[in-house]
Amino acid sequence: MKRRTLIKSSATALLASSLPKLSLAMASADKSGKPRYDYILTAEPATARLAKDGDSHILGFNGQFPAPTIRAKQGQPLRVKFINKLDEPSTIHWHGIRLDIAMDGVPYLTQAPVPAGGSFIYEFTCPDAGTFWYHPHMNSVEQLGKGLVGALIVEERDLPDYHDVIIGMKDWRLKADGSYLPLSIPREAARAGTLGTLATINGSEKPVIDVPAGERLRLRFLNLDNTRVYNLSLRNDEAKVIAIDGSPVAKPYTLEVHPTGAGMRLDVGLISPNKLGVEIPIYDMKGRFGVEICRLKTVAGGKTKAVKTGIPALPANPIPAPQLAAAETLSFVFEWAGALSPSNKDGQVDHSFWLINRRAWNDHSHQNLPAPLATLKLGQSYIFELHNATPHHHPIHLHGLIFTVLESDKRELTPYHTDTILLEKNERAKIAFVADNPGRWMFHCHVIEHMQTGLMGYITIA
Ligand code: C2O
Ligand code: CU
Ligand code: CU
Repeated sequence: MKRRTLIKSSATALLASSLPKLSLAMASADKSGKPRYDYILTAEPATARLAKDGDSHILGFNGQFPAPTIRAKQGQPLRVKFINKLDEPSTIHWHGIRLDIAMDGVPYLTQAPVPAGGSFIYEFTCPDAGTFWYHPHMNSVEQLGKGLVGALIVEERDLPDYHDVIIGMKDWRLKADGSYLPLSIPREAARAGTLGTLATINGSEKPVIDVPAGERLRLRFLNLDNTRVYNLSLRNDEAKVIAIDGSPVAKPYTLEVHPTGAGMRLDVGLISPNKLGVEIPIYDMKGRFGVEICRLKTVAGGKTKAVKTGIPALPANPIPAPQLAAAETLSFVFEWAGALSPSNKDGQVDHSFWLINRRAWNDHSHQNLPAPLATLKLGQSYIFELHNATPHHHPIHLHGLIFTVLESDKRELTPYHTDTILLEKNERAKIAFVADNPGRWMFHCHVIEHMQTGLMGYITIA
């Protein structure tokens, strides 16, 4: 047996025993001998028990919820074969990854939709380590709303000594019997978005998550919901923010409350008590009142006997620093468009509630591409002045790049890197980045109903 086959089969055997649900994941090697991370992801209808009194018809990656967690290594190739077993077209977008535009998974803009019964191979290298995620970019209210959301963890080249805990937050629009309520209510879509009725963490209601005692934990929170903002808090001064939306902060700081909008992530470092059976609640804060969303519980089984101390910073990602003095400034105003627009030529009501720079893009299929919101010069630095001129918050996301949040008129901040900025009502903020990744990159609100009723556009970098 050649060495390569040997590695492949032993890795498969190892993964098959530790991850029985994952149909196929293995590390193989490319020609240069670098390990390559290979997965098969199938989007398909499935059933899951989420509500109290009955099963729900979900859409699941590999028929399951939570979806398989994809693990890649910083700087190494990741290959995912996507198989579409839905009865409609789909794609996969890799949220937060600075990848090649051809792999960004936006129908028409970056690739042809993957038809029902079709497949597509996504292959790219992840330059940055951190907590990212994946989801389709078509018929998103339904495809994401019914379960096609999963974690993509890019491990650091030199893995810091943390025990990983994935906390995937997603609400469902379900009745007690497991059947769906309407996923989107136009009245709500024109406001903060339609909220779920059943809150889950990793697919369960208020779960207790076992963690090793006396270990350094890396809590990876992922907001996989279509709508909701989680105001995350542990009400514990020992809990430190170590990364925001995948990007390490320069210096860990105490987590008080971190508003985490749809699509956003937060990595929190915490040393678990060196005693068994200790419970640590995690809250979504409503003002000063904390609603528990899940809790951690210490169990035996730490990697070492030595109790960990201190929360080390994560190594920085190679994000280029924008040249602010030479940067060009562009402004983007997010507005409410008003009530329902008249029916279209087929007699259907066309919902268009939101505008970016006076334009709405609410074409669900993306089939008719509008002009870009802006065309940027490759290699040039830019400052975007963002103004949320609406009475609702919007998590504004840019594909293919990571930007620096410079300032906001609503809060004091130390500049940090991210792929999504949660703008409060009436907030003005400045972000900056180097336009170093050529392509047509989506720029949209991650409240999925907002994105599908106008708050969506793209910028071209050429
Ligand atoms: Cu999570 Cu267009 O992205
Ligand atoms: Cu994205
Ligand atoms: Cu929005």
